[in-house]
Amino acid sequence: MDFKDKVVLISGATGGMAQEIIKILSKEDCKLAIFARREEKLKEISKNLSNCIYQKCDVTKPEDVKKAVGATLKKYGRIDLALLTAGVLVPFPIQTFNSKQIRDSLEINFMGNVYFIEQLLPIMKKQKSGTMAVISTLPDKRGVAGWGTYGASKAALSWLLESLRAEAKQRYNIDIITIKPGSVKTPMIEKFPRQGAISSEDAAKAIVNGIKKGKKIIEFPLMEVLLIKMKGLLPVFAYDLFPVEESKGAGFPQVDEE
Ligand SMILES: NC(=O)c1ccc[n+]([C@@H]2O[C@H](COP(=O)([O-])OP(=O)(O)OC[C@H]3O[C@@H](n4cnc5c(N)ncnc54)[C@H](OP(=O)(O)O)[C@@H]3O)[C@@H](O)[C@H]2O)c1
Repeated sequence: MDFKDKVVLISGATGGMAQEIIKILSKEDCKLAIFARREEKLKEISKNLSNCIYQKCDVTKPEDVKKAVGATLKKYGRIDLALLTAGVLVPFPIQTFNSKQIRDSLEINFMGNVYFIEQLLPIMKKQKSGTMAVISTLPDKRGVAGWGTYGASKAALSWLLESLRAEAKQRYNIDIITIKPGSVKTPMIEKFPRQGAISSEDAAKAIVNGIKKGKKIIEFPLMEVLLIKMKGLLPVFAYDLFPVEESKGAGFPQVDEE
């Protein structure tokens, strides 16, 4: 994809990765429409950009999502690329297992994207072109102790995107891209530091370059990709031998048995 003059909608635009993506895309002369809940932050981000609209949008509210897509269309007349990045990471200790936490994560990480796709599909169908690039996560195939709610929401998202990809392309010329980052130093993982985490600048470059090259799945960084693929080959008994407290990683909250 050549980014020049393209209309790009971004959800979760106040996030660590999204802010770096915005910097790159503004240099590529894109017309930007950026959305998130923190309006002040959106205002600050858009301040020095020549072609950028912003609006408050909570992805758990279908009416907000509809307004965001509507505002983009009203301003620019089309939407070439939707970069859907909004997400939350919440530890999920087995001791306090509860359905509300799972529902909340699914509402943001899964349904938040579903609401956007619902609004974008008819527009891109009409245009007979468009790209939706959505951020899932690298470990989206096998469970990880302590992170069940995040993983479940992202696994559902990866499954949905993969299911839509071929049909969206063949019927309507719409590209669906699944972005699968490993660990990236953003506010999201501040409390959960990970060895080998890459900078948000490098993550943004990997994402933008992947879209430019027309990749269907953008996964990075390489070492983590290889590690996850190797883990994926392990039989269940071997996979279950990993010490669970280590799998949870640094920063995972200690919870006492009730
Ligand atoms: N960092 C990593 O290591 C990593 C790894 C794999 C995947 N990811 C995924 O990458 C994406 C970007 O994350 P990041 O690392 O850049 O994290 P981040 O800095 O925490 O950004 C996430 C953004 O999502 C927005 N958001 C959260 N809930 C929302 C809601 N209900 N409605 C609208 N926006 C909402 C937040 O904006 P507001 O608070 O302003 O609404 C926030 O700025 C996420 O989907 C994340 O799951 C991250």
